[in-house]
Amino acid sequence: MFALKIIILITLIVPLNYDLCSCQCARAEYKIDKQCCPMCAPGNRVRWHCTDDTSTTCVPCPPLTFLDEPNGLMECFPCTVCDANRGLRLSEVCTRSSDAVCGPLERFYCIEKKKGSCTLAVRHSKCNPGQYIKQAGTGSTDTVCADCTGDTYSNGSFSSCLPHTKCEAMGLAETNPGTHSSDSECGNPPTAVAIIASSVIVTLILITVVSVLIFKHIRKKKLSKSSGKLYSVIFVV
Ligand SMILES: *[C@@H]1O[C@H](CO)[C@@H](O)[C@H](O)[C@H]1NC(C)=O
Repeated sequence: MFALKIIILITLIVPLNYDLCSCQCARAEYKIDKQCCPMCAPGNRVRWHCTDDTSTTCVPCPPLTFLDEPNGLMECFPCTVCDANRGLRLSEVCTRSSDAVCGPLERFYCIEKKKGSCTLAVRHSKCNPGQYIKQAGTGSTDTVCADCTGDTYSNGSFSSCLPHTKCEAMGLAETNPGTHSSDSECGNPPTAVAIIASSVIVTLILITVVSVLIFKHIRKKKLSKSSGKLYSVIFVV
């Protein structure tokens, strides 16, 4: 039974192998017009295919083109252009034997890759007010945000949430309680002192004015009384 399986396998594989071998050239050769020609080295393309009595003629790839493998091609491939509109910048320049490698722009991260080169990158997310940057974005990962908790705040660009300012501890009054996105606001007690002082001054001025008026009124009364007396004295005389 086992021997039978082996025989079946051999009868299947051997003709297949033979077939592959008969239609393919050696490893460093390519097939053209039913004959095998030596390949050109990376960085070079074929100028003339080989003939019965000449080998392949190869020439270097022109600028901005490349071939990164041994080949039998008549044309080199154009170098990849790193497009800023796709969030990309050049990270490795193109050579005759290697394509350009693109990477994400500053503050971008790669979301599509092909053969070790980035093909599409997008901007890192921004954290919202009330969140802090738990993990800064990298070339391959987005920013990680987390919410502020307790008596802390962040405007979305802090790397941690900061504790609210304690107004009382600074001898100040809290004029606005803090939120998760803003600090508390403190007011100056001198403002309260100023209000009290100004009301005291206003009161003093009022008292002075009123007393002056009362004083004048009294004097007027006294004056008219005394002049009445004078008249009567003159009348008696
Ligand atoms: C957050 O605050 C920092 C420093 O106070 C400031 O530089 C930054 O522009 C602020 N960011 C936002 C999003 O308001």
